[in-house]
Amino acid sequence: MSDRFNQWAQAIQLDIEKALSHYLPEEAGSPGQLGLLNQAMRYAVLNGGKRIRPLLVFAAGRLFDAPDTVLMPVACAVEMVHAYSLVHDDMPCMDNDVLRRGKPTVHVQFGEAMALLAGDALQAQAFAVLANAGGDASRNVARTRILAEAAGPAGMCGGQAIDLASIGTTLSYDELEQMDRLKTGAILKAAVLLGALSGRQSPDNRALEALEAYARALGLAYQVVDDILDVTEDTERLGKTAGKDARDDKPTYVSLLGLQESRQLAETLCRQAHDALGPFSAEAQRLHDIADLVVYRKK
Ligand code: IPE
Ligand code: IPE
Ligand code: MG
Ligand code: MG
Ligand code: MG
Repeated sequence: MSDRFNQWAQAIQLDIEKALSHYLPEEAGSPGQLGLLNQAMRYAVLNGGKRIRPLLVFAAGRLFDAPDTVLMPVACAVEMVHAYSLVHDDMPCMDNDVLRRGKPTVHVQFGEAMALLAGDALQAQAFAVLANAGGDASRNVARTRILAEAAGPAGMCGGQAIDLASIGTTLSYDELEQMDRLKTGAILKAAVLLGALSGRQSPDNRALEALEAYARALGLAYQVVDDILDVTEDTERLGKTAGKDARDDKPTYVSLLGLQESRQLAETLCRQAHDALGPFSAEAQRLHDIADLVVYRKK
C-alpha cells in the first residue's frame, strides 16, 4: 500500500471518529440510566475500530463523484450497525468474549441488559442517520433497503444464527462460505454499494456487477483472515481474545482447511477482488488498496 493511500485512510479515519461522535447521543447532561445507555453506545463505537467499512463507503463513492456530505453519514450508519453487531456478538449468549478493541467488552463494562440495549439503540440510530443522509430521496430509500437487508435475516443476523447453530459441528466448505457471506460479507458488500449509490452519477449495471463481485471476494476474504488471525496473532495485538475459535469449537476456515490452505484462499480471494475491478481505471485504486489492507492486515 502506498503512502498516499495510508494518508488518505488516516484522514478518513479521523473524520469518521469526529462524525461518529457527533451522531451519537451525548452522555453528559442525560439523567441516570439514560446517561448510562448513551455512555455504553459511545463506548461501543468510539473505541479504535479499524473503520474498514467507512473506508469502503468513501472509496466506492469516489467512483461516482459522491459528495462527502452524503458519504459521511452513510459511512457512520454502516459503522454503527457493525459496532452493534460486535456488541451482541461478544455477549455471553453468543461468543462470550470479554475483550474487544483492547478494552473490556460492553457487557463486561455496563452489564448484559445495557449491552443489549446499546446494540439495539445503535442499530436504530444508524437508520436515523442514514435516513437523514440527504441527496436524492429515492436513493435514500434504496440505501435504507440495502443496509436493512444486509443487517437482517438474509444478511448478518442470519449468518450469526448459522454460526451459533454450528458450534461443535463440521461444516462443508459450501456451508462455511454461506455462513460467512451472510455474517461478515453482507455488511461489507452493503458498504460498497451504499458508497456507489451516494454519487452524483449513477452506477450502470456493469459497474454494479463489478462492485458486487469485488465485495463478494473481499467479504469472504475478510472472514478467512479473521479466522487466521485468531490462530496466528496474540491477544494484545488483536485486542480480542486470541485462540477463542478453537476453544469454542467453532467451524472456521482454519479448522476446515488448515492454516496454509486458508492463507492461499485469502490470496486467491484478494486476486479475485482486484480482477473484479477490471472495468474501472485508476479511480478504483483505493478499492484495490483496501483489498490488500484486508488480506495483509495483522489485526
Ligand atoms: C470483526 O470486524 C468482526 C468480523 C466481521 C470479522 P473487524 O475486524 O472489522 O473489527 P473492528 O471494527 O476493526 O474492531
Ligand atoms: C463476527 O464474527 C461477525 C459479526 C457479525 C459480528 P466473529 O465472531 O468471528 O468476530 P470476532 O472474531 O468476535 O471479531
Ligand atoms: Mg461470532
Ligand atoms: Mg466473536
Ligand atoms: Mg473471529
